[in-house]
Amino acid sequence: MLVSQRALFDIPRDVCFLNAASWSPLPLAAQEAGRTGAARKGRPWLIDQDFATSQYERARHAAAQLINAQASDVALIPSVSYGLATAAKVLTVPAGSRVLTLADDHSSPVLEWTTRAGPQGFTVETLQRPSNGDWTEALIVAIARPGAARVALASVSSVHWSDGGMLDLGKVAGVLRSCGAALLIDATQSAGVLPLDVCALDPDFVVFPTYKWLVGPYGRAFLYVARRHQDGIPLEQTSYGRRDVRADATTYFADTRYVDGARRFDMGERDHFISLEMASIGMETMTQWGNAAVVARLGALTQRIVDGLRDIDVGVPDGHVRAPHILSLTFPQGPANPLVERLAAQGIYVAPRLGRMRISPHVYNDEEDVDRFVAALRELLAPGARRVSPERSTTFKRSCGRDA
Ligand SMILES: Cc1ncc(COP(=O)(O)O)c(C=O)c1O
Repeated sequence: MLVSQRALFDIPRDVCFLNAASWSPLPLAAQEAGRTGAARKGRPWLIDQDFATSQYERARHAAAQLINAQASDVALIPSVSYGLATAAKVLTVPAGSRVLTLADDHSSPVLEWTTRAGPQGFTVETLQRPSNGDWTEALIVAIARPGAARVALASVSSVHWSDGGMLDLGKVAGVLRSCGAALLIDATQSAGVLPLDVCALDPDFVVFPTYKWLVGPYGRAFLYVARRHQDGIPLEQTSYGRRDVRADATTYFADTRYVDGARRFDMGERDHFISLEMASIGMETMTQWGNAAVVARLGALTQRIVDGLRDIDVGVPDGHVRAPHILSLTFPQGPANPLVERLAAQGIYVAPRLGRMRISPHVYNDEEDVDRFVAALRELLAPGARRVSPERSTTFKRSCGRDA
């Protein structure tokens, strides 16, 4: 099994960071690349076009490998919401049809459609959270509901950011395909950890950023676009999205037809080489470890937590509906926020998410971290434990942020 990779990160021993689903620490190698990249921008006369091209293509290739795509089917974008805005511009959702989303799914795969629903005349149907936690079953039932309008699209996270519920994408993709509906996968909470094979699934769009599970920086994300949509109009109109619009030529707008493949969807100002290289390092490292090893490792850590809390009154989702790397606990006494705050005061960082306590270990965690978390939580929940203070400590505010 993959051993803890803590030595590759800058994590003091007394910090127990179990919050990769919000944002992960950067590996030392990515930090070093960031410093080198900043110095490079300090001397731009040394940067040539070959360097630029190699940076785009390295990142594109690394992202494509994570989902078994061709690099030419992947665009360089800055955020998941950008990917959604692109998809919504390309995809025509017919009036009278339904777009399916998951209850309390992250804003990025949801709000683009709710914003467009009225003007475009379709409805967004939000699936309620199933009591058994099985989002796959709930989605399949909703797709096939008799008498309901035709489903044009499911815009869903592969792993729900708040409860850690995992979709069986193979099943969902098959059902959607059989009724001619499109599938947009927000793979933010799974890319690099869980396998996702676009050749097998044939989704319409897949989008993911690098700053969480891919141990990369903010502002770097990737959009897979199925070939059937690659003739769409990009969100932004860039020179490099066109065949021949070159600043160094004598005729500027020589050929304004779009380039082939998903490259036409590349964001403006994609020349952010500092973070592009950092992103590549994170993605390549995840690929080297491989899904199977990462899942085995993170599944073992979350299971160790479940085992450690077995005799305590906390709600733990069933193993078959939750992702192996995210564990969201519920507490009979109410929202987890005060507990999270008290853990943070001890240097143990988890996230309060919609009342739950979301625990998301990554490869830099080890058994010592999860045992420490279990011991601290048990102590906080022990009968007679000190009541939680309502004030929020600075540490807590720092560690939780607003990021989902
Ligand atoms: C499921 C999911 N999608 C998207 C995002 C981030 O979206 P964006 O890149 O648009 O800020 C998050 C962040 O927590 C997330 O959990």
